[in-house]
Amino acid sequence: MTLPKIELHLHLEGAAPPAFIRGLSREKKIDISGIFAPDGSYAFRDFAHFLKVYEAATSVLTRPEDYHRLTLAVLEQSAASGVAYTEAFVSPDFCGGRDLGAWREYLHAITEAATEAERTMGITLRAIVTPIRHFGPARAKEVALCAAETAGPFVVGFGLAGDETVLTPKDFAWSFDMAREAGLRLTCHAGEWCGPDSIRDALRDLRVERIGHGVRAIEDLALVDELAERGVVLEVCPGSNIALGLYPGWRRHPIRELFHRGVKVTISTDDPPFFHTTMAREYDRLAEAFDWDDGVFRQIARTSLDAAFCDPDTRARIA
Ligand code: HPA
Ligand code: ZN
Repeated sequence: MTLPKIELHLHLEGAAPPAFIRGLSREKKIDISGIFAPDGSYAFRDFAHFLKVYEAATSVLTRPEDYHRLTLAVLEQSAASGVAYTEAFVSPDFCGGRDLGAWREYLHAITEAATEAERTMGITLRAIVTPIRHFGPARAKEVALCAAETAGPFVVGFGLAGDETVLTPKDFAWSFDMAREAGLRLTCHAGEWCGPDSIRDALRDLRVERIGHGVRAIEDLALVDELAERGVVLEVCPGSNIALGLYPGWRRHPIRELFHRGVKVTISTDDPPFFHTTMAREYDRLAEAFDWDDGVFRQIARTSLDAAFCDPDTRARIA
């Protein structure tokens, strides 16, 4: 399939090839050998353990130039899958520890790599600054300040990742208010590890326009209807959900029913090497599981493009 793909839900560090992380760990003599399986892939048991492995992997990303290399490696993977535009979650918690000066340096390195990738690979990157929920609301405020100070054509959004089972969206309302006032567009992980009410909470208390995952809306059809009516966009990551055991297989994934009930679904990979996936694989598996043809994928790509947080000129250029 040659349709240009639009990806709206990708964690920059979570897209790091394991060989890249292992290489940096050797260079810097940081022992994280426990996070790798014998075949060199990332090894984790469940979502809680995944978050620990993820954080251990980020511990080798200690300099802006590491993020420059990381960004190029990630965009190379995405471009190889036919992705034309990607929005990546980037966390000041990992990029300079929420110090604004350091964050600017890391962001500069990421932006430079994005410019280079745009020129050499024809892929466009934008950033969604994202606090980590289980690090708590106080740290999220510092992240929001970093986001607000660097809002612009590259930093286009603000999100919330991490352990969905701790705290509530409302605890992060201050940060989301600050981000909104800075002109950032908003999204929040919800409805993956918690049920439909977590989606309602994020919509009401954070006033987000997109939901990261949101698939568990399917457990409450009144909510599904509301999402469809309000045009809320779901950043659905089927391969991630299946790899983490949320659904037993592709045919059992609710994306099909959500789509048929009129919800604006989009397709993303989340943390592709962790979940042994790529955008090309997501498209192939969905086509196979649901007999989806190019027309369906074209509609989903159009929804994704419309829901992208970039400015209209950028949207027109990648359309
Ligand atoms: N879900 C929630 N938080 C995360 C993820 C994810 O897939 N990846 C990195 N942080
Ligand atoms: Zn995610």
